[in-house]
Amino acid sequence: MIENLTMFATKAELVEAAAARIVSKIMQSVSENGTCLVALAGGSTPREIYAAMVQKAEEARVPWEQVHVFWGDERCVPPEHADSNYRMAHESLLRYVPIPEQNVHRIMGELNPDEAAERYAQEVGAVLAGRSHGFDLVLLGMGDDGHTASLFPGTTALDVVDADVAAVFVEKFDAWRVTLTLPLFNRGKEVLLLVAGESKAEMVERVKALHAPCKDYPVSLIRSVAGKVEWLTDNAATRLL
Ligand code: 6PG
Repeated sequence: MIENLTMFATKAELVEAAAARIVSKIMQSVSENGTCLVALAGGSTPREIYAAMVQKAEEARVPWEQVHVFWGDERCVPPEHADSNYRMAHESLLRYVPIPEQNVHRIMGELNPDEAAERYAQEVGAVLAGRSHGFDLVLLGMGDDGHTASLFPGTTALDVVDADVAAVFVEKFDAWRVTLTLPLFNRGKEVLLLVAGESKAEMVERVKALHAPCKDYPVSLIRSVAGKVEWLTDNAATRLL
């Protein structure tokens, strides 16, 4: 169940290649559509990738006024909280690029989870209205339990088919999250899965061995409209393949 996987010898090489690939895809989307709507991944892996994008985006002259960033999920914390995915992207990338404030679509983690989800669904719906597909580019990571975004095994968000955004209580973290749902993710044109580190190796092996998508491994349920779900990994994460 992993059709398209590129391994890099080290995480440093993965970081550079992923940053270059994301900037290139942004430029291609702007060139083809006049805009690029990107759903950013959270967690720790993307931080270095986003930081590496800053210079590459400047060299490529990314027209940030034509780029809109969203988040695939958010922890239900204020934007200044250390766990905030917004804070991570702001600190590593957004504060260094001239993206208009109105193009940064933050999930309001400081609100009640259901209200944050409802508001985000309205905001995403307004920006995506009338488009033939969802996001132009979806960036995701994978946890060692096979979750992606905040679509965790055994949680209610996995079963949501009639909404684009859901609030979900994650037992293992004893915490609420807001996440985009599979219907919205899977309307995305292209997906890059950014997976690095020894701790992911067993799960990468299990997902690759799957013969069909499986709810026990939510990352295996991710699709894209253009049929492009590409895994960018380092050798540590793919050492069991
Ligand atoms: C989050 C992410 C989550 C993340 C994976 C991998 O909010 O944490 O959306 O799905 O991508 O847990 O996280 P790392 O990149 O930190 O390993």
